[in-house]
Amino acid sequence: MWHGFLPVEPAWYRKTFTLPAGYRGKSIWIDFDGVYRDSVVYLNGHKLGEHQSGYTGFAYDIARYANFGGRNVLAVYVDPRRFEGWWYEGGGIYRHVWLNVANPVHLAPLGTYVVSKIPEPKAPGFVPGPASVSIETAIVTSGTPGRYTLVSTIVDPAGKTVAIARSSALVSGRSTVHQAVEVKHPSLWSIDTPRLYTLRTDLEQSGRIVDTQQTHFGIRTIRYDADTGFYLNGRPVKLKGTCNHQDFAGVGIGMTDSILYWRIKKLKEMGSNAYRCSHNPPAAELLDACDRLGMVVMDETRHLGDTYQQKTPSGTTTSDLSDLAWMIQRDRNHPSVIMWSMANEEPLEGTKEGANIFKAMAKVVRKYDTTRPITTAMNYGWGDGFTLVEDLLGFNYAPDQYDKFHKLFPKLPILGSETASITYTRGKYTTDVDRGFVFCDWVWPEAAWEPIASRPYVAGGFVWTGFDYKGEPTPCKWPDINSNFGAMDICGFPKDSYYYYQSVWGSKPIVHLLPHWNWPKDTTKPIHVLAFSNCRRVELLLNGRSLGAKEMPENGHLEWQVAYEPGILAARGYDAAGKLTAVDKVETTGAPAALRLTTDRTRLKADGEDMTVVDVAVVDEKGRVVPTASNAVNFQVSGPGRVVGVGNGDPTDHAPDKASARKAYCGLCMVIVGAGTKATGSIRLQATSPGLKPAVMTFTIGK
Ligand code: GAL
Repeated sequence: MWHGFLPVEPAWYRKTFTLPAGYRGKSIWIDFDGVYRDSVVYLNGHKLGEHQSGYTGFAYDIARYANFGGRNVLAVYVDPRRFEGWWYEGGGIYRHVWLNVANPVHLAPLGTYVVSKIPEPKAPGFVPGPASVSIETAIVTSGTPGRYTLVSTIVDPAGKTVAIARSSALVSGRSTVHQAVEVKHPSLWSIDTPRLYTLRTDLEQSGRIVDTQQTHFGIRTIRYDADTGFYLNGRPVKLKGTCNHQDFAGVGIGMTDSILYWRIKKLKEMGSNAYRCSHNPPAAELLDACDRLGMVVMDETRHLGDTYQQKTPSGTTTSDLSDLAWMIQRDRNHPSVIMWSMANEEPLEGTKEGANIFKAMAKVVRKYDTTRPITTAMNYGWGDGFTLVEDLLGFNYAPDQYDKFHKLFPKLPILGSETASITYTRGKYTTDVDRGFVFCDWVWPEAAWEPIASRPYVAGGFVWTGFDYKGEPTPCKWPDINSNFGAMDICGFPKDSYYYYQSVWGSKPIVHLLPHWNWPKDTTKPIHVLAFSNCRRVELLLNGRSLGAKEMPENGHLEWQVAYEPGILAARGYDAAGKLTAVDKVETTGAPAALRLTTDRTRLKADGEDMTVVDVAVVDEKGRVVPTASNAVNFQVSGPGRVVGVGNGDPTDHAPDKASARKAYCGLCMVIVGAGTKATGSIRLQATSPGLKPAVMTFTIGK
């Protein structure tokens, strides 16, 4: 049940490709960024190796078995049947796979580590300079030792070269070069201004470049204070975070770079500034999106001592910390990553044994990165176990314990590693567990956020979750196949809780009213109306008549019981000076009359992977979304593109996501449109539904 009742079956993948004869003598390897899970890889019938975790990358040298100047067959066996988590984890090759060809001497994969240091800025806007940047670069060779020149060039966010280091290196086997440069007037990376520098690494021999690579990094300071929380560039920042798994409607766990980026953008729009990769290392492109958009990250593994590694497909056991070492080396250059998490709610968390395992893990982390604190997400046992050895104390839930442990461990910074876990299905406004939908008791998100907001020493919190995901249908059972925890549903449609977070996390004045106003005309039971707002006072009006104004409690909500009458229910938010600063309304709509399409991006790259999320609304004659509509919608695409998948956020809907039709759920559904590889022309999406006016959207294709 926790895996969403979805079948997972072993599968074989086969890919045929040719390799030019000229590649003979080169270093050549294949990188798998993520395969869920227990994979065995073969090239031309020869076994290259086995890998267990579905969340860590791995690579195989293929030179030995490759057929140069001819055909090669890569075969991958994947068995997702043994889960790592308790939610739907999918199955198959779902992250990028890269074929790398390099000279026998080349820059080592994950071998570059760039660390910048500046004194912590004392006042906003004041940037102390220069930044000292230390660069560590590993070079490997499978050939004879030789002398090379390593050139590290730093390019600022505007594209200007600001520093160069040049070192001579004798490379034999694996050699590491250390360089140091200064960046005179650094532009800092922050949540509001995520400025990125690029380190270009060129490996040269006799003036000829034999390998090159780019690494993005940011210049910023982070600090955790046990009394006053988290600081970015010297300024206190409350972590307004969400936890997230890695699946989405229409694509499952096979989220492309553009979907990963889009999801981070949606979370930022909600007012969130922090992302917890629960409970596993994410795709590298997710961290790229966080770097580019300004979202700080709690990067996590829950392979406590790799204890999940029982047996490999061929029956051997690999019990080491290589997955953890991989995660730190891959992710350490991302400015968005501000802490490492070693565990989530692991049974050993409050024990001496747990502390010992943590210590072994921390040793591995510190071997590769010493610039971030190491934490865990604990749900019991605080005061013991991990608490005694970690840099940051994480509380999953239990806000009533914050004060106690802050007193007991006054030097240990504290954060809400997981909070809230409210269950709430978009658009239903009632609970019927048997039919698969739930309505939230608004006490819960407030009870989770208020203790964090009111305690400066709590660095922030991570709400469970930003988006719904498949599996964990709590508190429902069959036929629910996805969770109800998200502030957004599995398609990214905001639920009302999204607006609660926007009101307490954002600075823009907002007021949000619920529920919808499409009840049967003869409704006699008063409607329970709620408003979220960051205004000082909110007035409610029904069809122009004031139903009174109320003072808005900080971090809370307002409630009214309203006798139903069709029309317009409006809320007006006023600031302390009595000025109207925000409005919202819910309206009784007419019958469904048309479809409406909206998206944030109508320009797609012709790379065969780019895609965009298109929201589909069923609207009445006046263009108002009909919140009870469930019309069936069909999608047709013409031009060099395709329908990638569909969804509607209904946790009980078992219609396939890989389809070109979907029913609306509470007025909305979604279609993902993907580009092909042809860089000319345009894609035309048409949405139709019997009896409704169709809608059309055109996408431009570019390079
Ligand atoms: C937490 C757990 C999460 C999720 C959540 C549901 O205890 O860490 O993975 O299961 O509960 O409420």
